Amino acid sequence: MLVNGHHYRTVWMEQSTVHMIEQNLLPFTFSVAEFPSCAASCAAICNMTVRGAGAIGAAAGYAMAQGFLEEDDPNIARTMICATRPTAQNLFYAVNRVWQAGITGGKEAAVAEAEAVANDDAEASRRIGQFGAELINDGNNILTHCNAGWLAFVDYGTALSPIYLAHEAGKQIHVWVDETRPRGQGARLTAWELTQAGIDCSIIADNASAHFMAQGKVDMVIVGADRIAANGDSANKIGTLEKAICANYFGIPFYIAAPTATIDAACSDGTAIPIEERSADEVLWQQGVDEQGAAHTIRVAAPQARARNPAFDVTPAKLIRGIITEHGIIAPSIAGSTATQKQ
Ligand code: MRU
Repeated sequence: MLVNGHHYRTVWMEQSTVHMIEQNLLPFTFSVAEFPSCAASCAAICNMTVRGAGAIGAAAGYAMAQGFLEEDDPNIARTMICATRPTAQNLFYAVNRVWQAGITGGKEAAVAEAEAVANDDAEASRRIGQFGAELINDGNNILTHCNAGWLAFVDYGTALSPIYLAHEAGKQIHVWVDETRPRGQGARLTAWELTQAGIDCSIIADNASAHFMAQGKVDMVIVGADRIAANGDSANKIGTLEKAICANYFGIPFYIAAPTATIDAACSDGTAIPIEERSADEVLWQQGVDEQGAAHTIRVAAPQARARNPAFDVTPAKLIRGIITEHGIIAPSIAGSTATQKQ
């Protein structure tokens, strides 16, 4: 995607160093951080320098390649990468691909496979955009949650990819952008991406979407996914389940956009999907900048209050109208068989 006229991917590798757009500083500062070792790349996945299922997957694939290049036991590297974040299936998919390539073909093969994982992610996102754009009509109001744009993948994104292509085709679109507390991926990242692309959007508080649905101001909901079970149950950013329930109540189509790399055929249903629980501090404290651009962290909750912070929830397949994949729009019920055939 273009940033200030320069084409960027979210994550890439040069020699043995992984480069990532520093997402914790966006939208206030655009910078690229460098991670010269597998351990450093793992730390960047943990602290969410890179986040979003596809981008995490590509970063994990590169980290696995670094593990082979470092000539320590690559199995130690694999264990370290797999312990970074538990929910996004793309991470495990990428690590397995690079691991297999490295074990059979050595370090060069591992690096080539990591590159292939990243390229496949970008291409899948582009194709998801083509299929999804056909669902979008001129004048549509589309609601999205969290960030499933190009920052969450290597390029294009999933939920936002159809929106980008529909916009490029000349359709007038307006996007309702959920803030997505506690980390604000919607308000910070999705709103920044859409604004950069010249797409009309409004940030709304997470609890405002049912209000706009009730007023007939939401034509469809498109979100991403971090892991899709074989029966189509889909884990995505916390709060997605509420959107799906509300959309179904009001008869609004609710779509998941995700590559087949996000489908975990070994998970029979959503109850088997591991849900990451993050630090309570993300709920109790917020970060932002003042009018001079200086960064601040402030407490926004009652002193001494405790908090819980599940990072994802699971939307049951029956609430999902379709899954927009790189192979077309599929019924949630065939997610597992599609992954088995196509991965
Ligand atoms: O915790 P994050 O920011 O990595 O979570 C990202 C999401 O939940 C996105 O909606 C998602 O990954 C789906 S699109 C990659």
